[in-house]
Amino acid sequence: MIIAVDGPVAAGKGTLARSLAAELNLAYLDTGSIYRAVGAKILDKGEDPGDPVAALAAAESLGPADLERRDLRREKVGLAASTVAVNTQVRAALLEFQRNFAQNPPDLPGGAAAGAVLDGRDIGTVVCPEAELKFFVTATPEARAERRHKELIERGDESIYARVLQDLQDRDARDSQRVTAPLKPADDAVYLDTSTLEAGKVLETALDIVRAKGL
Ligand code: CDP
Repeated sequence: MIIAVDGPVAAGKGTLARSLAAELNLAYLDTGSIYRAVGAKILDKGEDPGDPVAALAAAESLGPADLERRDLRREKVGLAASTVAVNTQVRAALLEFQRNFAQNPPDLPGGAAAGAVLDGRDIGTVVCPEAELKFFVTATPEARAERRHKELIERGDESIYARVLQDLQDRDARDSQRVTAPLKPADDAVYLDTSTLEAGKVLETALDIVRAKGL
């Protein structure tokens, strides 16, 4: 079973995908961390995330340790990620790893996984168009900015709400307007608006949909 979870910045994709994985015995892949890792590598070298040569070199040299970096959730890394994510060749270079994860999910600590859940922007449309279930998670920009602002403060990063809201809107615009694999719901996606729902309720709603589908 493959479940796709897509949506804009800080909509609650990761929280939902991680809990679905735990509930349903699925392997979980946060595909945003892959784009963030490419962005972080470029920033380390003082290179421009908009430089296609630097971006492709970083994508092609990505290793497992890059995905474990502790600074991936930083705002500046997210912005660099959305810049490299516009690049068609970068996206192509990262596609096979994501598809392979979905089709051959790694074992979980307790044994074999029953499938995979991936979250990102193009999982239902490009990476796994064959997914049995596709969620498109949304919330108002203000609710999302509030959440991200809190998350950054809790992690000890500096954060200014107005700046977070602006960055989030810039990143959504870039993600939605790019030519290759833009952020958009798959035709058969189920919408979940998390603006006023706490995480537990979102999970409950999603699990009801999983069961209603007989999965
Ligand atoms: O967690 P948040 O919503 O802030 O973002 P993320 O999922 O970590 O993704 C970071 C950036 O990577 C996004 O703004 C996208 O530009 C890019 N991305 C993408 O293009 N395709 C994906 N499947 C996942 C992320």
